[in-house]
Amino acid sequence: MITGNRALYEQVILEHNKTPRNFREIEDADRKVEGYNPLCGDHFTIFVKLDGDTIADISFSGKGCAISKASASLMTAMLKGKPKSEAETLFNRLHDLVTSNPDDPVDEKALGKLQVFSGVREYPVRIKCATLAWHALAAAFEGKEEVSTE
Ligand code: FES
Repeated sequence: MITGNRALYEQVILEHNKTPRNFREIEDADRKVEGYNPLCGDHFTIFVKLDGDTIADISFSGKGCAISKASASLMTAMLKGKPKSEAETLFNRLHDLVTSNPDDPVDEKALGKLQVFSGVREYPVRIKCATLAWHALAAAFEGKEEVSTE
């Protein structure tokens, strides 16, 4: 099942890397945080505009590998207009996915588009790529201005 979907998953990742969603800065962001991966030097800045507990707008800038950029792009696309709590829910699901055994079944319904990162399970070194932007967003909600994946 996973093998059969692999080409499609890779296509989605490459497409988001080439044409990332919400790849811009938000001038009047309520939260702004830089996420940094010291292993490779890749870094993103995440911008969030809040309306109460709702993520009214979310964007990112910076540079990273295809997996990290696609993950940041999907993160912003999936969370715009959603409650803050959704960010934690989805981050937990993504983290559980990429740290699970490659042979474990994937909960496609719960993960939605995040299932494209199921291939990361076979390359543990890429876990930090898939979660870089999400760590940064979690740190932003904790009031931090920068976070490292180390
Ligand atoms: Fe740097 Fe993926 S290689 S975040």
